[in-house]
Amino acid sequence: MHIGDKQLHFEQVTSTNDIAWQYAGDEESNGLVVVADEQLTGRGRRGDAWLSPPGSALYLSMLLHPDVSCRHPVMLTIWAGLGVCSMIEKKLSLKPLLKWPNDVLIAGKKVCGILVEQRQQWFVVGVGLNLAIPVQHFQGAGIHQAASLQDFVDVPVNQLEVLDELKIEWDQLYTEMMSGNKNHLLELWHEYSGLPGKAVQMEVAGKGWSGTIHQLNWDEIVLEVEGNLFTFQPQTVAKLRLLT
Ligand code: BTN
Repeated sequence: MHIGDKQLHFEQVTSTNDIAWQYAGDEESNGLVVVADEQLTGRGRRGDAWLSPPGSALYLSMLLHPDVSCRHPVMLTIWAGLGVCSMIEKKLSLKPLLKWPNDVLIAGKKVCGILVEQRQQWFVVGVGLNLAIPVQHFQGAGIHQAASLQDFVDVPVNQLEVLDELKIEWDQLYTEMMSGNKNHLLELWHEYSGLPGKAVQMEVAGKGWSGTIHQLNWDEIVLEVEGNLFTFQPQTVAKLRLLT
């Protein structure tokens, strides 16, 4: 299977995640990409609404039935985010940051959010990428730390071109990840998160931690605090931010 072998494009949906879920269980739909110009009840990670004027963002969801080794929401969130980062750097020559766990930032502003949902062995990976959302929209919604790709480049940002590039990035990384080769993805994670060796603040089970990232891996994040090493499972880390 390849990401986007099967693709559905709608003008308006409730949420692309909802549409993708309708195909769960159908092996032929593994890798399905659902795209919409507008969402009426798009949702974000903390139950926030995820809305913007029609055509100003790329809303998409991928339906996946991964092998057991990749059935990890954190890994799939990072995979999706890294595909976005890679596309942004290759296509727009910008250097994005993957902020834990599901945001892509440019110059400190969020341009993309990812929402991974799981039902048994199936996953829907929803991606909202701001292409050219008018700044007034963010102001009106009281969102101050957000921007669109178009804010950073002079060439027009085209939805279909971005989508094609994204599918290429995601497909390549997904094939590697599923074949057990997670090293390239790990390198990209280190590069775009900027975390290894850096001072961070973390929140795990309601407790705050400050230290230096000693190791960043799929199954453990090791934090050095005043010479002592503390190991955390990635899925338990609620917040993780660079201090510099
Ligand atoms: C977040 O940052 O909180 C995650 C936002 C995810 C939004 C995308 S838009 C496409 C897909 N459909 C949804 O309803 N949500 C995701």
